[in-house]
Amino acid sequence: MTSVRTESAPADVSVRDFPAGFLWGAATAAYQIEGAVDVDGRTPSIWDTFSRTPGRTAGGDTGDRATEHYRRYRQDVRLMSELGLGAYRFSVSWPRVQPTGRGPAVERGLDFYRRLVDELLEHGIEPAVTLYHWDLPQELEDVGGWPARNTAGRFADYAALVADALGDRVRLWTTLNEPWCSAFLGYGSGVHAPGRTDWTAALRAAHHLNLGHGLAVEALRAILPREARIAVSLNLHEVRPLTQSAADREAARRIDAVGNRVFTGPMLNGAYPEDLLADTAHLVDWPELVHDGDLATIARPIDLLGVNYYNPTVASALPDGQAPDSAAAASDAGHGDGAQSPFAGCADVLFHRAPGRRTAMGWPIDPSGLSDLLLRVHREHPGLPLMVTENGAAFEDRPTPEGAVHDPERIDYLRGHLDAVRRAIAAGADVRGYFLWSLMDNFEWAYGYGKRFGLYYVDYATQTRTAKDSARWYAEVIRRGALPDPRA
Ligand code: FCB
Repeated sequence: MTSVRTESAPADVSVRDFPAGFLWGAATAAYQIEGAVDVDGRTPSIWDTFSRTPGRTAGGDTGDRATEHYRRYRQDVRLMSELGLGAYRFSVSWPRVQPTGRGPAVERGLDFYRRLVDELLEHGIEPAVTLYHWDLPQELEDVGGWPARNTAGRFADYAALVADALGDRVRLWTTLNEPWCSAFLGYGSGVHAPGRTDWTAALRAAHHLNLGHGLAVEALRAILPREARIAVSLNLHEVRPLTQSAADREAARRIDAVGNRVFTGPMLNGAYPEDLLADTAHLVDWPELVHDGDLATIARPIDLLGVNYYNPTVASALPDGQAPDSAAAASDAGHGDGAQSPFAGCADVLFHRAPGRRTAMGWPIDPSGLSDLLLRVHREHPGLPLMVTENGAAFEDRPTPEGAVHDPERIDYLRGHLDAVRRAIAAGADVRGYFLWSLMDNFEWAYGYGKRFGLYYVDYATQTRTAKDSARWYAEVIRRGALPDPRA
């Protein structure tokens, strides 16, 4: 219907279109949905241990049962098919595939992912595998976890096992999901597993996650067919200074260094930024940590960068005379209430939640952050295709007595953020797809089951899935490849 695009068409019709071939997806992660934590040879990950430790998660919630996706995956693929998803991003549980974190794979564990991939392909849905979404085998944590160099090599071996099993059918691969969270929430502020609070350990973890990524890229390239595409998903912080004062801009620079460039520097430019090394020299002996050859490994080319975005980060300097309160300052950054700031060495940086609408996580709603972020990455790394690998929102969803779930705030959030993606594309960013977080409500880490991000509402007592209004809205977006007219 070319007539739709004639000059007399309203200006906002064609501009709401997404490029042909744009990949429409939804995302989940193993520990958040699978349940079945002790079947078919799976052993505990750091998240099993952490969530079973009193006081670590809201209400003591664990992923023991989660949404029983391990059992119900066929039904869940049908939901994806109802949405018309082009792709589904899921993660493989390391302790299900390689329980001790070393040695041969457990075939029963791999079989689950083989069946899932087959089911997706039968429904015409492209599988997008994330190799690590935070569930380190506990045995590897017991011998040092990510702060130990050995873990990087273990990760690459595990990546090879999964690539051997699924490489013939999966084209889209992601090494790590949000290594910032693994390093700085897991070992810095301690709000994520394994719950350590040691900035030195956090920075060491960051380097070994980088190294694990690079080694995994090498392992994957050796196994996967040429057309496979390899990515990493980063939760890049869209950092904004509170004011344009020199002190606030300096605070924002430091957060950008330890929040973003600690990963993008080595992965995409082949070096840790000088300012990061200087800022953290009192915490880490970088020349001892980074071995010869590490940077070349970490910088192995990737085909796509996954960008996860939820909200912007506003930073300022501590006012003169005010004593740093690292824990209080950090909680305003929206990464949970830890014992200290996750941003290593930044106890004296304050965070501010912009006024205005927020999600149930308390995260400010600001789609401009997503377009600014995509355009910044595009400017700094021209030629690198991008994919939004997570974006979405939790709200206080409640079914009506008739069983409907009306979630206009989520539709509004999604419309705004998809519009931001479209604007970034119009301004030149090469964004190839969008994965909504999340397919269904699930175990939201330290927040437990109280925070609902899904397109499908999950009644945890009965495990019933109900399409929220946003599910129907997203299906319509996918069908049209464009944002529906909000006035319609
Ligand atoms: C991201 C995580 C994802 C989910 C969303 C809300 O940081 O990658 O698992 O918890 O936040």
